[in-house]
This record gives sequence, structure tokens and C-alpha cells, in this order.
Amino acid sequence: MAFIHHTHLLFLIAFILFSLRTAACVASSPESIPVPTPAPWPEQFHALLFMNYSGTLSMIDLWYDWPNGRNFNIIQDQLGGPPLYDLEWNNGTSFFYTLPSSPSPSCRSAQLPVGILRPNWLDGATYLGRTSVDGFLCDHWEKADFIRYYEDVASRRPVHWVFYSGRQAHVMTFDVGAALADEYWQAPAYCFKEGCASGGGGSGGSDSFESVLLRRPLEHI
Ligand SMILES: *[C@@H]1O[C@H](CO)[C@@H](O)[C@H](O)[C@H]1NC(C)=O
Ligand SMILES: *[C@@H]1O[C@H](CO)[C@@H](O)[C@H](O)[C@H]1NC(C)=O
Repeated sequence: MAFIHHTHLLFLIAFILFSLRTAACVASSPESIPVPTPAPWPEQFHALLFMNYSGTLSMIDLWYDWPNGRNFNIIQDQLGGPPLYDLEWNNGTSFFYTLPSSPSPSCRSAQLPVGILRPNWLDGATYLGRTSVDGFLCDHWEKADFIRYYEDVASRRPVHWVFYSGRQAHVMTFDVGAALADEYWQAPAYCFKEGCASGGGGSGGSDSFESVLLRRPLEHI
């Protein structure tokens, strides 16, 4: 009888030690809790963005279309002129224009050294924790000291981002899979005329590759 009892006791001690060890391992290994990573961008989406740049407000209609290698920012300044169409191709060509129906239609193009953002452009961003933005509990990250990006914890949709320049975007709608028909991606004929003003890439020589890459589709130049 004593033998059986002894075995039980040993088993119990072993079980307790094992439990303690497991508990200790969990408690002493915070790195085993996965650090949140931003959701990749859907390959196609439509978003309405409210922008605030030091109190100057604008609205952006954003059509992201990775499979077709194109990205559209249609920018309306608050009570401003006709909307500015910023059409970006993955080969680095951008067209900035107003529509033929606007009072003085214009167009300029730019050739950038990079294409549009990839769906995984947020990979490698540094996690900064949880905070409340625009009334949503968000995870947020910093990418390349250039942008802070806030994502809703519950839905994993983007809520907000802020550029180093202070330009802020508030995401008002985010329609995954929405795509703009091909006909709207055609820049007007006056973009292709001889003598059409053509800007350089970026806003200066000091931009890093990454800052150009990040800014291009999100913050019109
Ligand atoms: C815009 O941002 C500024 C800070 O740059 C802030 O003071 C102001 O309240 C914001 N305006 C709106 C309408 O959110
Ligand atoms: C890039 O693609 C667009 C759309 O097809 C085209 O209009 C533009 O000329 C191309 N740019 C270059 C440098 O090939």
C-alpha cells in the first residue's frame, strides 16, 4: 500500500513541477506573444479619405488597383477648384490633370523611379502599440520614419495615417474589391501633346527611394 501511495505522491510532485515550469515559461517569455503586423492591402479597393494638412482640408477618392498596376487619387480641396486627377502607373509614369470639362483643363506628367505601392508595402513596419483614433481602437506602426499607420483592431481596416510632413488621412470608406472601370483610367488627350509640361521625379534630390515609394500613391506631390 505504501508503495502505491509513494508513486502517487511522486506523480503529483512531478505534475506540480511541470505545471510551475510551464507557467514560469509563459511568464518569462513575453516574446512568445506575437507582435501584431498590419494587414496587407487588398489587391483592389476603393477608399474615401478625408485629409487634413495643418488645417487645410481635402477629400481623396482613392482607387487602388494592383493587378492592373495603377492607382488613382482624385483630390478635391475644400470648396476649391475642380478636382485634380492624380493617375499613377506601375511603370513610374504619373499624370496630374483636370478634366476636359473644367474651366481651364491642364495636365502635367512625371516620371518617378518607382511604381505604385505593393500590397505588402507595410511589411517590416515597427509596432508601436494600441491606441484609440477617430473613436476606433487601433494597432499602429511606423514605417521608415515616414508614416504612422493605424488599423482597426476589430476589422483590420485602415483608419488613419499620418505622414512625417503632418499630412493626415482619415479613412471614411474602405470597399475591398471595388474597382474602377477601364475607361476612367484614360488620361485626356492633352496629356500626350508635344510640350505637355513634364515634372521631374519627386520633390527634390534628397528623397530616399523608400520615401518616394511610400509617398507616391498616398500623398500627392
Ligand atoms: C486638422 O489638424 C490640425 C492639426 O494640424 C488640428 O488642429 C485641426 O483640428 C484639424 N482639423 C480637423 C477638421 O480635423
Ligand atoms: C506607362 O504606362 C502608361 C499607361 O499604359 C503609359 O501611358 C505610359 O506612357 C507608360 N510610361 C512609360 C515610361 O512607358
